[in-house]
Amino acid sequence: MFGGFRLDEEGHLRAGGLRVSELAERFGTPLFVLDEDRIRENYRRFRQAFSSRWERVVVAYAYKANSALAVCRVLQQEGAGAEVVSEGELRAALKVGVPPERIFFNGNAKSEAEIELAVEKGVKINLDSLEEVEVVGEVAGRLGKEAEVGLRVNPGIEVPTHPYIATGVKDSKFGLELETGEALEGFRKALEVGLRVKGIHFHLGSQLLDLRPFEEGTRKVMEFAGLLKRELGLELEFVDVGGGLGVPERPGERGPSPEDLASRVVPILEEHAEGGKPFTLVLEPGRYLVGDAGLLLLRVEYVKPRKGGATWICVDGGTNLLLRPALMGTYYHMELADRRGEGGGEVVNVGGPLCQAGDVIGRGRRLPPVRRGDLLVVFNAGAYTLTMANQYNSRPRAAVVMVKGEKAEVIRKRESCEDIWRYDTLPSWL
Ligand code: LLP
Repeated sequence: MFGGFRLDEEGHLRAGGLRVSELAERFGTPLFVLDEDRIRENYRRFRQAFSSRWERVVVAYAYKANSALAVCRVLQQEGAGAEVVSEGELRAALKVGVPPERIFFNGNAKSEAEIELAVEKGVKINLDSLEEVEVVGEVAGRLGKEAEVGLRVNPGIEVPTHPYIATGVKDSKFGLELETGEALEGFRKALEVGLRVKGIHFHLGSQLLDLRPFEEGTRKVMEFAGLLKRELGLELEFVDVGGGLGVPERPGERGPSPEDLASRVVPILEEHAEGGKPFTLVLEPGRYLVGDAGLLLLRVEYVKPRKGGATWICVDGGTNLLLRPALMGTYYHMELADRRGEGGGEVVNVGGPLCQAGDVIGRGRRLPPVRRGDLLVVFNAGAYTLTMANQYNSRPRAAVVMVKGEKAEVIRKRESCEDIWRYDTLPSWL
């Protein structure tokens, strides 16, 4: 099963030492469940793969995957840095105690206020455009502070993933192009405006199961780093190869391990670093660290047989909590939380509660006979779920529970309807 979740002898799914059906009774549904130990294991496995091969490594957890403070705190305790892309994520990283030098601020449209905050706090800023180089130069000058920066380059590589999450391709909005000379100009300019140019950054895309693009990207970027040294005399202190390691989505599928990734990428770094000052290798995994540590528990409200078609299973959470099936057609594996030993089963579709025909989180799934009141478990729900959730149809967002062995506590409260209206006001004339 995904993430080490398992069925007990009586056929009940457990998270840590607890039955998920009991968690659903206790905390209500829809409910996200996160297994703390699994997050720690994922982090250690990832970190070890690289630090066994390279001296200085920073694993900067990508907060966009899951920015619940408890998750950020667990990873901070493990020693993770943070990859952040907004004021909110940056403040979260500082709040849980990540040292500023291990925070990497990415993004193609950082506001001046965000840049001021980043410079004030002394986090590393990965610059994404020629204009941003100038703005950060101005801000640092105005604040009388030194800004430590990297530049994000776009290596222009085709990556086999959904186009919405392929970021290192030629026409992507991210980074400075290697091919056209824009990246070199960016580095030159950054030095001119007095920034402390420390590193280079690239990120190819997300949910990558094929490791070849990582090799190609690393090779291109390291060749470019050689050019920077020759042309500008620049010795980089960090090389940030981004995130993107994919996870298996279907039962039986096998994804590449961090070991696989490290064994492909590190030799390329070694080859190019020869003779130079050893730099820090930065990685920005998100999904790999938290994806399989999470479950989404949904209650079956109704079962609706259709003559000549698949039965609809109607559950209490849909693409409001699990947006990716609607956005990108993502497959999420689902099972019933409690097996009753019945065989058979049929092919069903799983629909959420929203007034939107596209609110479907699973199609053509084979499940044991499903009844009203059953608990449906969605696997791989730890990354890019709650962070992408919305309140469409005025549905409060789900609660999140963290499990550690026999313990379970709420780490994010369930929203109420009052919360939905919290920022609404009526104008004076109504
Ligand atoms: N670093 C940068 C600069 C990124 O843009 C991303 C993801 C990551 C790190 C983390 O990538 P990961 O290891 O999690 O694949 N919302 C999308 C995924 C977002 C991808 C954007 N960047 C989804 O629903 O799959």
